[in-house]
Amino acid sequence: MNFIKNLDIDTEKLLEAKDLSGLIDRLISLEAQDIDTILFDRQAKILALVEEVCQQAYKYNRQPSLLAIQNILAKIYELHYRIPNPQQENAESSFIIASIRNLIEKFFLEDEEKAIPASIWQEVPENSANYVDWFISLTENHPVYRHSLYEDYLKNHASLDDLRQFLIQESTIDTRFDDFLALLQVGTDGGVKLEIASNYWDEMGNGNISQMHVAMFSRTLNNLEIDLTKCKNYLTTEALICGNLSLMLSLYRKHFYKGIGYFAVTEYMTPKRFKHIIYALKRNKRNNFSEAEYYKEHITIDALHAQNWLKNVIVPVINKYPSSVYEITRGAIYRLNTSQKYLNSLLTKMASLV
Ligand SMILES: [Fe+2]
Ligand SMILES: [Fe+2]
Repeated sequence: MNFIKNLDIDTEKLLEAKDLSGLIDRLISLEAQDIDTILFDRQAKILALVEEVCQQAYKYNRQPSLLAIQNILAKIYELHYRIPNPQQENAESSFIIASIRNLIEKFFLEDEEKAIPASIWQEVPENSANYVDWFISLTENHPVYRHSLYEDYLKNHASLDDLRQFLIQESTIDTRFDDFLALLQVGTDGGVKLEIASNYWDEMGNGNISQMHVAMFSRTLNNLEIDLTKCKNYLTTEALICGNLSLMLSLYRKHFYKGIGYFAVTEYMTPKRFKHIIYALKRNKRNNFSEAEYYKEHITIDALHAQNWLKNVIVPVINKYPSSVYEITRGAIYRLNTSQKYLNSLLTKMASLV
């Protein structure tokens, strides 16, 4: 009884203070059934607050609201991919949490949609042979493809602290790329499933535990004395957006076509980018094997992943469903645009410290 009363009082206080982040922190530590039973009558009030903060973030471009929203989404997504301790309360299946998540995702994707030029839809080829060439030129002609954070700053100027700052931000994707692939492949079959599985097996170090990509990335962090558990508050809005979007597009079946476009771009851009990280490590005398192995590995392997993804995932999917080109393109552009904003924000941050 006390528990119910306390949660009621806490919720009321947090709603009154319009403290959405505080409210979510309180809710996600509880059991789904408790949240939904006790707060059933307050659902509309809670969603009204979520809507208000989303409006501030997306309609009025209030940066603190956008950061809060992306942090909240990251915390909710954690419920879907982090295994709780055996006796731990868990909010994963709460319909109130799901409603909050759905509302945030709606604002998030509408914002990404707004950034797609309408003219693009007249250009998209609906046959797979033409689509692949078009997709490559779309990627290579986007400003993010040769972004100066990689091509100039990391290559020529980045200090060791810049590199640390950069790797912390990269963690929203690089610490769980294998899980994105595992989620993305659910429901696929035949050659498409096999290609994602083969890519996943590379992520698994081809069966060698020390060569798992997540293990390699974690060694890179250790060698640069980075402890991610102490860095959660350092994540930029744009890095959170990249991590949240990667999870969203691999988590839901409805986003599958967007997801394969999104990850095709991700794989395609990596080799070129990672060369510059190796230059940066080298310039800072941190390019011994265990510091640079993650990047060295991806220069060769992601060139192959990109090629095979186009051939064995994108082409067969388009052959089966020609109209999937529109969703695949959406996902590709989401990646290009969010990556650009992410790199722009990092460059501004790092260059201002020079
Ligand atoms: Fe990888
Ligand atoms: Fe890859």
